[in-house]
Amino acid sequence: MSFYKVATRLVRVLPAEAAHKTTIKSLKLGLGPVAIGTPPKALSVKVGGLDLKSPIGLAAGFDKNAEVPDAMLAAGFGFVECGTVTPKPQIGNAKPRLFRLTQDQAVINRMGFNNEGLEAFKKRLEKRRLYRDRSLDRGADSGPERDLDRSLGGIVGANLGANKDSPDRVADYVTGLTALWGLPDYFTVNISSPNTPGLRDLQGEKEMEELLDRISEARAILADGQASVPIFLKVAPDIALSDVDRITQQARTYGMNAIIISNTTIERPDSLKDPQKIEGGGLSGAPLFERSTEVLRAFSLASAGKIDLIGVGGISNGAQAYAKILAGAKAVQLYSALVYKGPGLVKEIERDLATRLKADGFATIADAVGKC
Ligand SMILES: Cc1cc2nc3c(=O)[nH]c(=O)nc-3n(C[C@H](O)[C@H](O)[C@H](O)COP(=O)(O)O)c2cc1C
Repeated sequence: MSFYKVATRLVRVLPAEAAHKTTIKSLKLGLGPVAIGTPPKALSVKVGGLDLKSPIGLAAGFDKNAEVPDAMLAAGFGFVECGTVTPKPQIGNAKPRLFRLTQDQAVINRMGFNNEGLEAFKKRLEKRRLYRDRSLDRGADSGPERDLDRSLGGIVGANLGANKDSPDRVADYVTGLTALWGLPDYFTVNISSPNTPGLRDLQGEKEMEELLDRISEARAILADGQASVPIFLKVAPDIALSDVDRITQQARTYGMNAIIISNTTIERPDSLKDPQKIEGGGLSGAPLFERSTEVLRAFSLASAGKIDLIGVGGISNGAQAYAKILAGAKAVQLYSALVYKGPGLVKEIERDLATRLKADGFATIADAVGKC
């Protein structure tokens, strides 16, 4: 058994949140896995203006404070979304707030945007950029610098949220965008986390109108005539399918570059077996796959290729990543499956995806998008 398989099993013995902390600490020490080889050419794809070498991304919530994006890029992810970051630091909800539903290969979390805030997030991204600018003639064989060296071309996104006690939540997104402008490769406007009361109301027509209007106004000022950083919108799997057309239209009207589908669900499918299913919060992992793919398919129909889609929810193997692509996603993200399968999963999915594309006669990912 490989070192990482043993480490994944050991970490699983700890309570869920302690295990996550230990993982982040190990990654910061440079003890993470390093994926060997570059992704097959067929997997490179352009999504929302980003050139990805691999369409498999790390979903938001794993690296809330931008501590280990390079370690995760070195592990093989084609892009890493850090955050959710809120303007002010926040401790989040009372513990315990993270639960493994092992029998269902699922996770429930009600973290509540625990994070160190924009200032700490920004400092880390600045340090990363400084290193990149200086390091072109340096090399490191081990440790965090090794990860940074290997991942210099990697794509890192910043997922923005609002503070729980904010009197003007829309302003929080604008604050995030302004503070971090020029640092990440893309932004995600997260209005779909179920653990900040009222946040998902921003998916409503009027609320979204105001939000996207203010964001696009700020974006125009920040870009100042230059090409803008891509901005994505992340939605919940619990929206009514009848809202999909309207959300797609609004996202397009305000120049969003992609829609990420989806966040966690507040639903509890009847299939759940694990006793922890009674915990409140957002459910992710295997039981989310079907619903998030159904919503993705609806967005694919509504958008007719006019806006790029990123599929998230319950992906734990190559077949599921491929199913998301056939349903309309140009790229995918995952998080919960890492808890059960460890980071070796990324390369496994990559290999399987390339095999499936070839078997179906598709030369590239882009050729397979929405073909089911
Ligand atoms: C512990 C945990 C924390 C999360 N935190 C965030 C977050 O801060 N922001 C966000 O947009 N999504 C967050 N998510 C949702 C994931 O990004 C993803 O959308 C969801 O888990 C579905 O993917 P999965 O089934 O592969 O985990 C979180 C998920 C988990 C499991």
